[in-house]
Amino acid sequence: MNDFVRIVEVGPRDGLQNEKQQVATADKIALIDRLSATGLRSIEATSFVSPKWVPQLADAAEVFAGIQRRPGVNYPVLVPNEQGYERALAVGVQEVAVFTAASEQFNLKNTNAGIDESLRRFEPVLARAKADGIKVRGYVSTVLGCPYQGEVPLADVVRVARSLHAMGCYEISLGDTIGVGTPLKARAMLQAVAAELPVDALAIHFHDTYGQALANIATCLDVGVRVVDSAVAGTGGCPYARGASGNVASEDVVYMLHGMGMSTGVDLPALAATGNWLAERLGRQTGSKTGKALTVS
Ligand code: HMG
Ligand code: MG
Repeated sequence: MNDFVRIVEVGPRDGLQNEKQQVATADKIALIDRLSATGLRSIEATSFVSPKWVPQLADAAEVFAGIQRRPGVNYPVLVPNEQGYERALAVGVQEVAVFTAASEQFNLKNTNAGIDESLRRFEPVLARAKADGIKVRGYVSTVLGCPYQGEVPLADVVRVARSLHAMGCYEISLGDTIGVGTPLKARAMLQAVAAELPVDALAIHFHDTYGQALANIATCLDVGVRVVDSAVAGTGGCPYARGASGNVASEDVVYMLHGMGMSTGVDLPALAATGNWLAERLGRQTGSKTGKALTVS
C-alpha cells in the first residue's frame, strides 16, 4: 500500500481561531511562511468566516495577501458561504474548504444553520468554484461525538460525507471535533464512510482532548486513509465546541509516521522548530511532545 501520507497543516486556521489573545497578522504570515519551508504540501492558511463569529481570523485577507506562496504547496482557506467564497477569490485563493457537521445541534451553534441548510449554502460555492477552477475540500465535524447531542450515529456521518462528495468536494475531512474518539470507534467510523466513498477521497482530523489522537490515526491508516490533518504545536480547538482542545500536533504525527516507515516529505526538525517558535510567540510551551524532545540537549 502507498506509504506517502499527506499532512494537511491546519494550525494557522484551526489552531489560531481559538486563541484568546489576538495574534499579530505579521506573526500569522511568518508562521505560514515557516511552515511552507518544511516540505508540507497543504497548509490551511486562514478562514473567511464572519469576523463577528471568529474575530481571531478577521485579518484573513491581509494574511493571505502577505504570505509567500510556494509552488507545489496548496493553501486552502475555510469558507462558510458564498460571501466567504467571494472574499477568498478576491485575494487569489485557489482552494477552499466548506464545513458542516454530522450533528444538527453543533452545526447550528457553529454556523447558525442546520446540516441541510448548510449544504444548500454550499451549492453556489461549489458551482462557482467549478467554473473558476477552484478546488473544494469538505469537512464533516463531530464524527465521533457532539458536545450538545452526545453520540452521533454513523449513518449521519456517512450521509453528510456522501453529500459533500456528491456536490463535488474532492476530499472529505472527517473531524473528531471534540476529541472524544478512541481507536476502535475511529476505525469503525472510517470504515463506514470508506464503504461508500473511495478511501483516497478521505482525510482524518483528530483533536487530542483525551490523548487518543495518535492511536486513532495509527488505526485509521490500516483502513487505507493517507491524508491526515494536524496542527503545529498542537494548537487549536473550536470556539463553538465546548471542551474541544488542541488538534493533534503535526510534529508528533510526522514523528510517528516516519517511525512507521511512511513518508511525508516533511523536514521534522524544521517543523518542530516552527512549532517551538509558535509556542514562544503565544507565550506558552508547545503542545507537541516531539517539539519538546527535540529541544532537550
Ligand atoms: P449569520 O450571522 O447567520 O450570517 O452567520 P448572516 O448570513 O445572517 O450574516 C450576518 C452578518 O455576517 C452580515 O453582516 C453578513 O454580511 C456577515 P452585517 O450585515 O450584520 O454587518 N457575514 C460575513 N462576513 C464576512 N465573511 C463571511 C460572512 N458571512 C456573513 N463569510 C455564518 C453565519 C456561517 C457566517 C457564521 O455562523 C460563521 O461565520 N460561522 C463560522 C464559525 C467558525 O468559523 N467556526 C470554526 C470553524 S469549524 C471547525 O473548527 C471544525 C473543523 O476544524 C473540523 C473539526 O475540527 O471537526 C472544520
Ligand atoms: Mg478542527
